[in-house]
Amino acid sequence: MTAGSAAGSTASVPSIEFEAVSFAYPDGTRALSDVALRIGSGESIAIVGQNGSGKSTLVRHLNGLLRPTSGRVLLDGRDVRPMHVARLAGLVGLAFQNPDRQLFAGRVSTEVAFGPRNLGVRGQELEERVRAALEEVGLAAEAATNPYDLGYSRRKLLALASVVAMRTPILVLDEPTTGQDARGVARVRAVVAAATEEGRTVIAISHDMAFVAECFRRVVVMRVGRVILDGRPEAVFGEAAWPELRATYLEPPLAAVAGARLGLGATPTASSFVAALSGRAWARRGSHT
Ligand SMILES: Nc1ncnc2c1ncn2[C@@H]1O[C@H](COP(=O)(O)OP(=O)(O)OP(=O)(O)O)[C@@H](O)[C@H]1O
Ligand SMILES: [Mg+2]
Repeated sequence: MTAGSAAGSTASVPSIEFEAVSFAYPDGTRALSDVALRIGSGESIAIVGQNGSGKSTLVRHLNGLLRPTSGRVLLDGRDVRPMHVARLAGLVGLAFQNPDRQLFAGRVSTEVAFGPRNLGVRGQELEERVRAALEEVGLAAEAATNPYDLGYSRRKLLALASVVAMRTPILVLDEPTTGQDARGVARVRAVVAAATEEGRTVIAISHDMAFVAECFRRVVVMRVGRVILDGRPEAVFGEAAWPELRATYLEPPLAAVAGARLGLGATPTASSFVAALSGRAWARRGSHT
């Protein structure tokens, strides 16, 4: 099986539906209130919002780590509640916000092999998946290393590789760029782009608005357990939505702010910037002569 056929055909990627989902932790903390969200097969979607707004709680419902207090989570119209965690693991890969809650093996390659092995992958195919996933995140040279000898940012990439190797139709990344330098962010972007290209559903939680604006086609904004904005990046980062964004302590990406000032919209391209700025320079020069 090649990476390209990882999820089979796009038709095998289940749709997701949160139907009036509310969730309270055992200590009574109400983390989600009446969330309704439909995510189609193969969508690329970013979830943003202030700390504690319920983003991680929401995605933990996708692989059975949490079950709604009320409401339902559906995959292809079927309630996930009675589904076995093992079956869900084959459908939804979740890279944890905190890699140290995910990693347990004494060797990088063993860590990455764990997920696909649990899905029944063996032999050459397993080796190939481990090799490809480590390559994808830039850890190919660390196959024999103990994960705890890696720094935080590389443990985070290892957690990502472990999920990538499972080749699940739905890929969920909780704050994948946290702690990454430019090269690490580029690796994460490449993972997102490849999975999206393959027709898989990619859901990422992020505080990195440039990453969100540039890598995702849909942005969901959460505040105190509710979805308050949901749309294309052009709309969510557009000037009309700034007051609501700022109410949840999010700053629109710099490109969106500058784009709005230059009349280029919320998701300007680099070349439109250059054209607009050189146009201004010419206009200024013209006004001095
Ligand atoms: N295990 C837990 N027990 C009790 N309350 C929890 C637990 N985990 C999270 N919470 C609370 O639930 C709410 C939502 O938390 P959650 O981690 O889902 O938010 P988040 O949007 O992912 O935040 P962050 O951006 O900080 O990661 C917060 O009030 C948080 O304190
Ligand atoms: Mg979180």
